[in-house]
Amino acid sequence: MKKPAILFALIAALVMLVVTGVVRAQPSRLAPLAQDRQVAPAAPFAVPANIAPHPAPEQPLPFSHKTHVSRGLRCQMCHTNPEPGAQMTFPASATCMGCHTTVAKDRPAIVKLTEMAGSNQPIPWVRVYQVLPGVTWTHRKHLQAGMPCAQCHGNAGEMDAMSAVTAVTGMSSCIGCHQAQKASTACTTCHVWPTS
Ligand code: HEC
Ligand code: HEC
Ligand code: HEC
Ligand code: HEC
Ligand code: HEC
Repeated sequence: MKKPAILFALIAALVMLVVTGVVRAQPSRLAPLAQDRQVAPAAPFAVPANIAPHPAPEQPLPFSHKTHVSRGLRCQMCHTNPEPGAQMTFPASATCMGCHTTVAKDRPAIVKLTEMAGSNQPIPWVRVYQVLPGVTWTHRKHLQAGMPCAQCHGNAGEMDAMSAVTAVTGMSSCIGCHQAQKASTACTTCHVWPTS
């Protein structure tokens, strides 16, 4: 056989293995699946991808989620959800300096980070996802309902430069999911009218 033919045969064999394997594995996998569900429920509603152009904004430092999350850092180490629970917030520069006092400390970006941390001003990160001012929004209720970050923000841990890959801030995404998950779709859930 020629090389491509061997490759094709191999791939075909693999696909067969996976297909039959999955079919056979199904009954025994039911229990672990149900357990997983308590941690992160299967997503009945997929927030649509953002079809509008969404370049990553220029940030004050070239922070990469991929670099950090691939080393095992958890989202909540940097994004906490303090009272009253609306925001996930950005980490204090002291959190960064917990590592960067020593890690890569001579690189230009870290020298800049060290200067910023010394200034006692928060790092002026440029916002990526933002709902229209005046819309009622809270992370807390959504996290309590078991939604993983990725359901609304895509695969943040694989992104070097963060950009708005999903259309989660659009009203149709909010309402689409609220309908699918039987959450309230009354206008007053998200809007306070009259405004003046
Ligand atoms: C080491 C700290 C750190 C970790 C860990 C981390 N982040 Fe971030 N995150 C940041 C910083 C700093 C920014 C601001 C810079 C940027 O947008 O890239 C940010 C920005 C974001 C934004 C954009 C917010 C906005 O509207 O501007 C999202 C969404 C986000 N992170 C989600 C996640 C998720 C999901 C995880 C886990 C998979 C995660 N982050 C892990 C530090 C972290
Ligand atoms: C149900 C959808 C949804 C889920 C789940 C979700 N987010 Fe968000 N996130 C949003 C929306 C919408 C915004 C814009 C909110 C605003 O303008 O205040 C946002 C904004 C942010 C921001 C920037 C503003 C802020 O809140 O400080 C960060 C950081 C962030 N999300 C991180 C996360 C992380 C980390 C998780 C998982 C622990 C997560 N998000 C889960 C929808 C979601
Ligand atoms: C748990 C440790 C840890 C924390 C906390 C941490 N980092 Fe890092 N960071 C690393 C590691 C490890 C690297 C990769 C260094 C390398 O390339 O050898 C890195 C790389 C970087 C780089 C790229 C440096 C370069 O030019 O190569 C930047 C910028 C950076 N981090 C910024 C931040 C910021 C901003 C924060 C806080 C929001 C932060 N880091 C928090 C461990 C950490
Ligand atoms: C992926 C699904 C999903 C998306 C996307 C989503 N929501 Fe929700 N939301 C829910 C669910 C489910 C609940 C109900 C949680 C509960 O019953 O505790 C909820 C609850 C809420 C609440 C609290 C309602 C109350 O009675 O306290 C508000 C406010 C809200 N969402 C606003 C929004 C806005 C604004 C957006 C879009 C920017 C949005 N949601 C996007 C699923 C979603
Ligand atoms: C689950 C949350 C949610 C519900 C329920 C909801 N909206 Fe919205 N609405 C939003 C969000 C988020 C935006 C901002 C969209 C954007 O920035 O593109 C918005 C924007 C709007 C706007 C344009 C901007 C403004 O504030 O003037 C109008 C008008 C509007 N909504 C009307 C309604 C009406 C009428 C209802 C009830 C039938 C309703 N909405 C129900 C989330 C919601």
